[in-house]
Formats: sequence, C-alpha cells, structure tokens
Amino acid sequence: MCFNYKNDVLFAEDVNIKDIAQKIGTPFYCYSDKKLNGNYQAYKNALAEFNNTICYSVKANPNLGVLSALARLGSGADVVSAGEMYVALKAGIPADKIVFSGVGKTRAELREAIKNQILQINAESAAEVETINRTALELGLKANVALRVNPDVDARTHVKITTGKKDNKFGVNWDEALNLYRAASKMEGIRICGIAVHIGSQLLDLEPFRFAFTKIAQMVCALESEGITIKNIDLGGGLGINYNVELPPTCAAYARVVQETLGKLNKHIIIEPGRSVVGNAGILVSEVIYTKNMGEKKFIIIDAGMNDLIRPAMYDAWHTIMPVNKKRVAPVIADIVGPICESSDVFAKDRIIEPLAQGDLVAVMSAGAYGASMSSIYNFRPLVPEVMVRGREFFVVRERINYENMLREHHVPSWL
Ligand code: LLP
Repeated sequence: MCFNYKNDVLFAEDVNIKDIAQKIGTPFYCYSDKKLNGNYQAYKNALAEFNNTICYSVKANPNLGVLSALARLGSGADVVSAGEMYVALKAGIPADKIVFSGVGKTRAELREAIKNQILQINAESAAEVETINRTALELGLKANVALRVNPDVDARTHVKITTGKKDNKFGVNWDEALNLYRAASKMEGIRICGIAVHIGSQLLDLEPFRFAFTKIAQMVCALESEGITIKNIDLGGGLGINYNVELPPTCAAYARVVQETLGKLNKHIIIEPGRSVVGNAGILVSEVIYTKNMGEKKFIIIDAGMNDLIRPAMYDAWHTIMPVNKKRVAPVIADIVGPICESSDVFAKDRIIEPLAQGDLVAVMSAGAYGASMSSIYNFRPLVPEVMVRGREFFVVRERINYENMLREHHVPSWL
C-alpha cells in the first residue's frame, strides 16, 4: 500500500503527509510514484502476450512528473488536444507512441499531429478524414489514421462518461464506418493504420468490453477481406477503480477478454487507460478551516473546493475521506464541504467520519485521476500544488500559482 497509516498518521510511501503540508501549505495533490509504477506494470504484465502499447490517457492527469515517470516506464500517450500532445512530448514520450483522439480536433492541431508523425490519429467523422487528408497533402506528408468507430454498446457506467452509444457524439457511426474506410483508403494523404473504439470510463463490468471488442474483430475481418490492412487495434480507456465498495476487474481478466475476442487477429494492441493508472496513486490533502452545527447537521468546511476537485459536484462521485491524524474516537455524521459559493461544493454528504477540528488535515482518496486535470480557478482560487513522492523523498512538481501569475495574461482595456 502506498497511502498508509504509521502510528495513526497518514503517510504517502515513507513521507509523512503532515511534513508536506507544513512545507507547502494546503490544499495540495500528492502522487505516489510507486503506485503509478505498479498500476502501469499491471497492464504491461497482463498484456505481455500481445504486441502492445499502453497509451496513458493524459486527460486523467497531465502533471509533468506523472508523465515523465510513465515515459520512463515506456508508456505512450493518448492525447485529446495539441496541448496534451505538447506536454506528452515534453515529458519524453516519443511521437510514435502517441495517439490523438477527440471529436473536434482543429486543423492547427491536426497539422501538429501530422508534422510530428504520431502513431495514430483516431478520426471521428468523414469531415475530419477529409481535413486530415487535405492537411497532410499541404504538408507533403501522409498521416497515420484510424477510424474511431462507435459500436453502439452500453458501457453501464455514469451517463456523463458513456461514450459508445450511437446517440453519443463520439466516433463514426457503425453502419457508415466501412464506407468511410473505403474512401479514406483511397486518399493520398492518408495511411490507414488502425481502428479505435472507446465506450466509456469507470467500467466495472467486462461484458461491454467483450461486446465492443467482438464487433471490432468483425469489422477488422470485413476490412481486411477488402484489402484494407489494419495494424493497430486501439481499445480505448482502461478499467474502473475502487472509490468506495466497487470491485473492478483485474488487468489479467481484461487481457483474457482481449485474447478471447481479438487474439486470433494477431494485431498490435493499443489501450488508453487513464483513471486506473493514476486514480488511486493520488490524494488531495486539505485542512479543516471551520466546523459548524446547523441544528442537527454538522458541517466540516475544508480549504479545498469544487474548483480543486469537481468530481463529487459533477458526477455525485464518492471519494473516501480520511483524517491525516487518526484519533481513534467514535465517529460523527457530517457533510464535508468546500468554501466555494455554490451549494454543490460538497465532497461528502452525511459521511461517517471521526470528529475533526479546525486545523486538522484530511485526505481525499483516489483523487489522482480527473482531479487536478479538471481543476479551475473559480472564485479566483489559485491552482493547488502537485507533489510527487518516491520512498522518503517528495518533490513539488507544480508549485502553487500565485496571484501575480494568475493575472499575467490579463490586460486592462486601453480605454480605461
Ligand atoms: N480514451 C478516450 C478516447 C477517452 O475519452 C477517455 C476518457 C480515456 C481514453 C480514458 O479513460 P479511463 O481509462 O480514464 O477510464 N472526468 C470523468 C471521466 C471522463 C473520461 C473521459 N474519457 C471522471 O472524473 O470520472
């Protein structure tokens, strides 16, 4: 375990969380290098029988330390903007391990991707295919293209993170995919190299994967029977994780599904896991500012807000909240809330937790994915620092942004 109590104090690996708080103040994100490694290796080991590339999904957490650690392990990247491509390259992830997904890539972004000769652009519409072709021809290059197809499968996850149903905006309609492949394969600026699918996030059930991968296998056979060769099969995001009482499937069980559905095709398998690589490798540490009782109800007000971690407000997501200092006294029931002027700024409702007092620290667990990456400066609150821990060491990868820097790109109109 990488986040553990020692003598009733929470540690990240061998670093006392209180020591970090003392040095840099709260709130802050803290990532465990060891956990990150372990999560990446679990996929790597499970997929060992395939020629594979794990393209970590940068949107889950684009922290330069996280990306550099993954780059060292040999990870590729799944990016959804030129910005993510930029930071992935900066972290040392080679272009030929980068896939570019997204329903609305701009021409400028496509130009960057083509110039960089990345592993694969996952195109999501006929219009995008046309644009890639034109852009590649202008550059005198060929773009490596896969179609992201929409298999029309229900991922049985939260409605806001379901992507593989035909009424979602994502991917090429299943019934139109074959024709689009035919057209694209004749375009001078395009080198068809693969097929991609992504059905949603936080999947706790392997059956939707099995269903989608089976359909992909059929599509690959249909394409190859027409002489359109598919090198890469990109299976999209990874497994769900445990936030509360969930029991996500193991990487090995996932790999079995890949083997059973796609093994015979003998292709290069790409996966784009984000949450399951970095989610439980990160926590958000915050300090209790006040506690108050309103009638029967108790509130614990902490210095992190929905701008720092929006998942509870946006998806009603559960995050376990642990006191950094365990007091071993009877718990109370309280709402744990942030300071933001929104009623949805609630991390936990009616949560059973040890009584907390002003100045106590808490850790919001499994906040490594879609935490810092979705944070904002709402209420003009500075983005919080992000720290990486390795053994006894910790390192501030991203500093707390100061007000001056927050105003750096602001300019008062000249007429004022
Ligand atoms: N590939 C594509 C094309 C994606 O759209 C996503 C996630 C992933 C890979 C990574 O999926 P993962 O392995 O992390 O499940 N903000 C939400 C999650 C949004 C996921 C969006 N796409 C949350 O906090 O739950």
